[in-house]
Amino acid sequence: MTKCALVTGSCGLIGSEVAVFFAHQGFQVVGVDSNHRAVFFGPEGDTGWMRERLQRDIPGYRHEAIDIRDRERVLALVKEARPDLIIHCAAQPSHDKAAAIPFLDFEVNALGTLHMLEAARRFCPESPFVYMSTNKVYGDRPNTIPLKELDTRWEYDDPAFTDGIPEDFSIDQSKHSIFGASKVAGDVMVQEYGRYFNMPTCCLRGGCLTGPNHSGVELHGFLSYLIKCNVEGKGYQVYGYKGKQVRDNIHAEDVARFIFEFWKAPRAAEVYNLGGGKENSCSILEAFRMAEDATGRPMKWRYVDENRIGDHICYYSDLRKTKAHYPAWDITRPLSSIFLEIATSWTERLAARVL
Ligand SMILES: NC(=O)c1ccc[n+]([C@@H]2O[C@H](COP(=O)([O-])OP(=O)(O)OC[C@H]3O[C@@H](n4cnc5c(N)ncnc54)[C@H](O)[C@@H]3O)[C@@H](O)[C@H]2O)c1
Repeated sequence: MTKCALVTGSCGLIGSEVAVFFAHQGFQVVGVDSNHRAVFFGPEGDTGWMRERLQRDIPGYRHEAIDIRDRERVLALVKEARPDLIIHCAAQPSHDKAAAIPFLDFEVNALGTLHMLEAARRFCPESPFVYMSTNKVYGDRPNTIPLKELDTRWEYDDPAFTDGIPEDFSIDQSKHSIFGASKVAGDVMVQEYGRYFNMPTCCLRGGCLTGPNHSGVELHGFLSYLIKCNVEGKGYQVYGYKGKQVRDNIHAEDVARFIFEFWKAPRAAEVYNLGGGKENSCSILEAFRMAEDATGRPMKWRYVDENRIGDHICYYSDLRKTKAHYPAWDITRPLSSIFLEIATSWTERLAARVL
């Protein structure tokens, strides 16, 4: 019988990639997306173009424009669809935006996640439940690791973190941002449904998730927005840390491939740091150079000597646990091809005015 995957946030970066990926694996896909990205970020964040694309490209794709804050509609949908897999990607995703909309941020990220979990417990408790968490659950604690300053980036100066930040790094007693705190609430609740109810749940604590389908805006979508600025010849603003702050970048399809491995061999209450790891890490200054290489256009930027609140100075995921539990999984997209894909996509979308 055809398996059903329910994907929340299906018109966003990760949700759309996951929807297409699982459709290719033979799943019937039910997408839930209320286009709140346009509410959070205005017209530039509108994902209506993606909804049309999913409806055009995925045979049998079913779209439900349900707001995950709407408990009754969430429960009714899961009761009726009884999905074999739930991939929960809907979120208010911006660190910086959350402080201006704390009620909405918490209701979507924490309460919306509880709605999804409880619906799963009532109607499909055996189905793997994957939650897109974030490295912001570690708050600014990674900034307490001793660092060394290199020419173009900050780097850990403690051998314990040579491979990056592991999953047992403390999420407690640090500054998370309002967004990080609402994601912690969701993350802990997903773990709890795994432990308390023995459900096959996992939290994927993402680094910088990226790819050509991102509707990157200044407040969310680092590489997508940076490359969009380059393609448009628009200035990019760097906030603090000399532009040497390091992020690890992972292509959304590699995220989808990991979720597929988890689906094949689910575990309960697991947590994985899922980013590009050390190999796919770059600083903003290094990203400028790579964007220039990808497009042949100069990067325009200016510097503000004030970092974003709670921003990581250097973060890359330790992928050893992820690879140990799922040896068939690895990063398949190096940074160079990620840059090229995003640059090509923006060039085409800007020409067609699909923003
Ligand atoms: N992109 C990254 O760099 C990154 C990094 C770490 C973690 N994450 C996490 O991954 C997940 C997906 O992120 P993304 O980059 O795809 O974000 P995105 O903004 O591109 O996609 C989220 C989607 O959820 C939808 N949505 C928001 N609120 C909703 C609601 N109340 N009801 C229904 N739909 C709603 C939005 O319209 C949007 O299409 C999020 O949980 C985010 O916190 C992302």
